[in-house]
Amino acid sequence: MTGRHEVLAPSAEDDLGLGPRRPVDPGPDPADPAELADELRLRPRRLEEFQGQPQLTEHLEIVLEAARRRGQPVDHMLFAGPPGLGKTTMAGIVAAEMGVGLRITSGPALVRSGDLAAILTDLQPGDVLFIDEIHRLPRPVEEVLYPAMEDFQLDILIGKGPTARSIRLELPRFTLVGATTRTGLLTGPLRDRFGFVGRLDLYDADSLAGIVERAAGILGVAVDAAGARVVASRARGTPRIANRLLRRVRDFVEVRAEGAITAALAVEGLELFGVDHLGLDKVDRAILEALCARFGGRPVGLVTLAQCVGEETDTIEDAYEPFLLQQGLLQRTPRGRVATPHAYAHLGLTEPPSALGSAPRLW
Ligand SMILES: Nc1ncnc2c1ncn2[C@@H]1O[C@H](COP(=O)(O)OP(=O)(O)OP(=O)(O)O)[C@@H](O)[C@H]1O
Ligand SMILES: [Mg+2]
Repeated sequence: MTGRHEVLAPSAEDDLGLGPRRPVDPGPDPADPAELADELRLRPRRLEEFQGQPQLTEHLEIVLEAARRRGQPVDHMLFAGPPGLGKTTMAGIVAAEMGVGLRITSGPALVRSGDLAAILTDLQPGDVLFIDEIHRLPRPVEEVLYPAMEDFQLDILIGKGPTARSIRLELPRFTLVGATTRTGLLTGPLRDRFGFVGRLDLYDADSLAGIVERAAGILGVAVDAAGARVVASRARGTPRIANRLLRRVRDFVEVRAEGAITAALAVEGLELFGVDHLGLDKVDRAILEALCARFGGRPVGLVTLAQCVGEETDTIEDAYEPFLLQQGLLQRTPRGRVATPHAYAHLGLTEPPSALGSAPRLW
């Protein structure tokens, strides 16, 4: 192992410069240096600091320890799951646990195969190369990646037309860590080349409460156990949102109250910022209102729904639906999305008789 720890510290690049457009929750506002700095401070660096996802962390512990004992780079890894659950964090942890360098790029940033070749040829033995949003890698770039992942070789075409020739370069053994919000969009050949695929699920309230308490400690914010619990229970199962809500409640308490964040203050602060007791935000509610009220309980196609709430279809599928599905507020049916009785109850609406449970129409 090279032990080049100095490149491990997450830099501002972690969340910047990831291509022109991100379809999913972009995380902290890059224009707000304070938010960005906070997010970087809060990011766990080692596996033991990573809370929740017990099965995934146990598998990782074994895979990393085995690779360390063999003195070899760990197998290529893919992390999949909704935004803000810790995929980028995991890439940093893998590099830190292996004591190697970390290079960060993203699918949309690698426009030409030469962009990838430049990064690959610059790697040191054992390095972790993290490709975020790997499902958005252009196909020609992806094809360069196959031999690099499998045989640690790079085929480069030099010149054009009849004089063009291909040369083969040997690459150091490295570990590719890919992150994606959509495993379904990954091509089969790419998916098959990962030796380890980790799925991150929405977090339970206990893990999130632990994450809130850890973050409060780092930010120097006093919060009691019940206060942490309130923040956690409204965080849509997502650590990034938990941290963001904690910062808003901290602001609220600093300006309108004093002392530690208690359950009552957390509720008051979050209500003020429009976060309801399930943690639904404006877009979640707009989705449910469209399904319940605007379309009167009829199934709605994804494209129509996205247009209706002014979001991209990817964002609806990646960032909003997993939570609404998990909470039993929304259902996917072959004919489209429908709201469940729970959604009507949450919005205080009466379910129309033609909604769920109605006899299927035969024409
Ligand atoms: N298990 C965890 N324990 C503590 N904090 C966590 C954990 N997972 C994520 N976080 C926090 O949530 C933030 C977001 O995590 P991260 O950037 O890794 O998510 P992501 O899955 O890469 O999201 P995206 O898909 O938007 O890129 C991190 O800065 C970190 O502070
Ligand atoms: Mg990320």
